[in-house]
Amino acid sequence: MNNRLMQQLGDKIKYANFSAEDAAKLYLSYAKITKNYGAAIRAVQTKLEILDEDFELLHEHNPIHHMETRVKSIESILEKLTRKGYPLTGQAITEGLTDVAGIRVICHYVEDIYTIADLLKRQADIQVVKETDYIKHPKPNGYRSYHLVVKVPVFFVDGVVEMPVEVQIRTMAMDFWASLEHKLRYKSDGLIPKFIADELKECSETIAASDLKMQRIHSFLEDIEHNLQLPELVDETLSQEAEREGN
Ligand code: GTP
Ligand code: MG
Repeated sequence: MNNRLMQQLGDKIKYANFSAEDAAKLYLSYAKITKNYGAAIRAVQTKLEILDEDFELLHEHNPIHHMETRVKSIESILEKLTRKGYPLTGQAITEGLTDVAGIRVICHYVEDIYTIADLLKRQADIQVVKETDYIKHPKPNGYRSYHLVVKVPVFFVDGVVEMPVEVQIRTMAMDFWASLEHKLRYKSDGLIPKFIADELKECSETIAASDLKMQRIHSFLEDIEHNLQLPELVDETLSQEAEREGN
């Protein structure tokens, strides 16, 4: 095996219970992993972009604020295979890991999350492998997001492969919380003191309440635009506001 590669492996990968030879083989196959899972990401991302554009045309509203994508790093792949006790082979990656390809979809409102998830799930070539609603059932630490693992067909030179892609769908507010919580946990080596964990959970609840309020405001304004009965409701709201201001 080539020395430079061994050097790279020694520097980058610090997990003892696999042979450097196996790790090196996997390391060499990473270009193919990036290419194949990158293709799967693009296939799902294109579907999401099409849905967002079409929804905008129909409803004058973009459910998606932006998307972030990543292929899991080789270090994370090695770490996860080792943690799960899987062998370091391409087959173990294919059969054991469903989050090598990842897309994070950041939405404006909570309802947008369900709209996007439903529209994606109902497509004939999409197979739902796993679905977890951490919005209706937040994690004990306060983490909120809607997770989907889907399989999408990708047409390669040798034929079609159903590739898994993990899609995390969340609002900007949920993303703000998850990003900071991740950074804080990383900084403190995963050991967050109880009083800080409590504070973080409280922040998550405040954020969820704001998300709900923003959703209500958005739905209310959409109703004003589309519902014929609403002039009365608007008049009522305006007169209530005028009354409050007068007091
Ligand atoms: P992994 O084996 O870590 O992928 O977990 P899992 O298969 O049980 O899936 P889960 O849905 O719990 O988590 C998948 C991904 O969601 C993670 O890799 C993170 O990106 C994100 N996630 C889950 N829980 C948390 C959390 O508590 N905080 C943050 N910031 N992100 C989380
Ligand atoms: Mg993961």
